[in-house]
Amino acid sequence: MKALVVFYSKTGNTKEIAVNISEVLNCDIEEIFDAKPKGFFKSAFESLFKIMPKIKQTEINPKNYDMVIIGTPVWAGNMASPVRTYLFQNNEKINNAAFFCTMKGNDDKKVFLEMERVCESNPTACLSLTEQEIKQEKHIKKVKKFINKINKKS
Ligand SMILES: Cc1cc2nc3c(=O)[nH]c(=O)nc-3n(C[C@H](O)[C@H](O)[C@H](O)COP(=O)(O)O)c2cc1C
Repeated sequence: MKALVVFYSKTGNTKEIAVNISEVLNCDIEEIFDAKPKGFFKSAFESLFKIMPKIKQTEINPKNYDMVIIGTPVWAGNMASPVRTYLFQNNEKINNAAFFCTMKGNDDKKVFLEMERVCESNPTACLSLTEQEIKQEKHIKKVKKFINKINKKS
């Protein structure tokens, strides 16, 4: 199975998990960058009101992959706005998807629902991690389970 990890990360948590997943799967990885990085309130506003900011042109075509694993931080109970832009730009090129998010609390409910809706495909696996789990390294078991589900798809 040819997999691609795509993620956005502002403060490094989602990036840490994305890099970890791509290393275990030995697969390609692409980071999404906001064309104009914003502060906390503007970011939260964009996410809450489903605004799609401009992102830097991505380089990898997800169409060339069997599985696209998409990672986002939770912002205002939603996916981060640059990830929304990426999904709207690429939804037709995503064959199979898996989603993961990192967050402070437990606000992941709406995130995966919207990602699923935009991708128009049922995710093979979903993974939610809190900052605390990552800091205390309690996320490792959950990440393994997530990767196992993805591997089973192949
Ligand atoms: C603009 C903004 C809004 C956030 N909103 C939430 C939220 O609604 N719920 C939550 O649990 N965490 C929220 N957080 C915390 C992040 O989801 C959490 O720190 C995440 O791990 C950050 O990922 P990153 O380090 O990859 O950027 C928010 C953070 C930012 C910057």
